[in-house]
Order: sequence, then structure tokens, then C-alpha cells
Amino acid sequence: MELFIDSADVGELREAMASGLIDGVTTNPSLIAKSGRKMGEAIAEICEIVPGPVSAEAVATDVDGMLAEGRYLAGIADNVVVKLPLTENGLRATRTLADEGVKVNVTLCFSSVQAMLAAKAGAYFISPFIGRLDDAGVTGMDLISEIRQIYDNYHFETKILAASIRTTAHVRDAALIGADCATIPPKTFAALYKHILTDTGLEAFLKDWKSTGQSIL
Ligand code: E4P
Repeated sequence: MELFIDSADVGELREAMASGLIDGVTTNPSLIAKSGRKMGEAIAEICEIVPGPVSAEAVATDVDGMLAEGRYLAGIADNVVVKLPLTENGLRATRTLADEGVKVNVTLCFSSVQAMLAAKAGAYFISPFIGRLDDAGVTGMDLISEIRQIYDNYHFETKILAASIRTTAHVRDAALIGADCATIPPKTFAALYKHILTDTGLEAFLKDWKSTGQSIL
């Protein structure tokens, strides 16, 4: 599974990249606003830090505006993936940009039929929002299962990028279902390393080792 970090904070991204485990980054207008940076500058710096796909979201809602913003964002660096919302205009712009060779991440996906349309429009990634469905009282992970089945049934190549991840269990379940990627907030990524038995086991090993009085080197 490819692991992406969902953040526009370059400090957080540098730290996550040091793990050697991160394949890409996703941002959205809210994350850019939180960073306090200008979109173009922030995306350019993130693309220098991260060699993998970096999703940068257009904010226009009409097709021409999406195309203009999408082309601008795609021109910032070779690894930019243009993010467009799952609206009728978003999918029209997706088709055009995909035909131009631009990778598009179709975002704000909340149903499997939406995901099917995005695949037909040539989306490179589809971003189903698990946590926001959970918040609304629906089991978000069911959406990942449905999309996996539909994409497999028809051999769609669009990658499923599980988004709006809130917990380590979300990452586990998305991986078990076969989502291609997950985009994870930095805190949740850090939590993936953790298990109480790892901590207590290591503590016991180190205590026993100390009692030997040895040193390896
Ligand atoms: C994905 O690309 C989005 O940026 C993100 O996962 C949204 O997560 P949220 O629902 O926690 O805001």
C-alpha cells in the first residue's frame, strides 16, 4: 500500500519523509489555509521535499476555471497531481486534463457510483472520504469495499486513495480491502508504529540486557 501524508505543513512533511516510508502527499484548500502559505509557493516547496505524487487542489467550480487552475498547478512540478472535486464540472475537467496527460485526483467522493464515473473520466486517483462518512453515521469503509469491487469488475486502473483517515484501524481496514493508497494525517501516521506490547517487550529486553553488564560494541 502506498502511504501519503495529508498535510501542507512542510515541517510535518520533512519529518514524515525522514521515515523513508512515505510515497506522496495530499493537500486541500483547508490544509493550505491552515499552513498560512500561498498555494503556488507551498506546492513548489512540498514538491522539492517529496519526489512522489503531490496533490494540489483547484478551487474554481466551472470547467474553464478548473482547467486554467489545473494547468497552472500541473506546471509547478512534474510530480503535481491536480485535485478536482467530484462534480459534473470536475469530471468534465478531469477528462480534458487526463487527455492532456495530467494526472488528476478526484476528491470528495462519497459513493461508489461517483467513483465509477471518476474512473470513466480518466481519474488517476479517486479519494473516498472515510472519516467524514463515519461522522455522518455511515460506515465509510463500506465505500472502499464497493469501489474496490467495481474497479476490479471492470478493470478500471484508477487508484483508490483512501482519504479522510482518522485512525490506525482505518489504515488497516483499507489495506485489508485492497485500497491502493491511504492518505494519513501526520499524527495517525506516527501512531502506526505503536503497539503496547512492543513498548513493554523492549523495556523487558533492555532491563535483562543491562543485567548482563555487556555491551555489543
Ligand atoms: C484528502 O485528500 C483530504 O485532504 C483529506 O483526507 C480530508 O480529510 P478530513 O476529512 O480529515 O478533512
